Amino acid sequence: MLEQTKTALAITCLMALAACGQGDGGSAPAGGAKAPAPAPRSEAEVQALLAALPAPYNTADLENGRRQFGLCRSCHTVGEGGPNMTGPNLHGVFGRPAASVEGYRYSDALQNAGFVWDAERLDAWLANPRTYLPGNRMTFVGLDDPKKRIDLIAYLKVESGFAPGDAAAPEPAPAAPAES
Ligand code: HEC
Repeated sequence: MLEQTKTALAITCLMALAACGQGDGGSAPAGGAKAPAPAPRSEAEVQALLAALPAPYNTADLENGRRQFGLCRSCHTVGEGGPNMTGPNLHGVFGRPAASVEGYRYSDALQNAGFVWDAERLDAWLANPRTYLPGNRMTFVGLDDPKKRIDLIAYLKVESGFAPGDAAAPEPAPAAPAES
């Protein structure tokens, strides 16, 4: 009997450990987990980055962009060194040739795309990935609302390492309450 209790305890512990281990995979729980990593950018730095983006992205709503990224999160990480999931890690995607994340197996369609990602490409891709590059494997219906795409792209720029001298915050998962 005592033996059983011990075993049960051990299993519980193991499960807890396993759950913790998976935590850094990218699905950051809202609230709760405090990142032990070096502090991500300050709000002021983020705002400065945003302001430095070309129009219309400089006036985008980053908070809404973060919400929109919820549509992507099940398949993509954006932090530096983040894992490839169903889709490739998106860190540094701007200015990067399509289909160039090492260790990720892309469709032929994306491998043969032959372009470098920029805001306009991404905008068209996100509006309707299927028609933009027929034969690609990203099963995402598309984001119709242009304003949502602008917010999302601005968020991606800020989060994906578009920045002079960013010390690359790993997946900050900002849960900052909007104070005014
Ligand atoms: C259901 C999973 C899924 C969702 C949701 C998804 N993607 Fe993808 N994404 C993929 C896959 C798979 C690929 C690779 C496609 C291929 O190889 O044809 C991809 C490729 C990409 C690429 C090209 C990357 C490169 O290295 O060339 C970008 C950019 C991208 N996705 C952005 C997004 C954004 C932004 C969202 C949210 C609006 C999103 N994706 C939603 C699965 C997904």
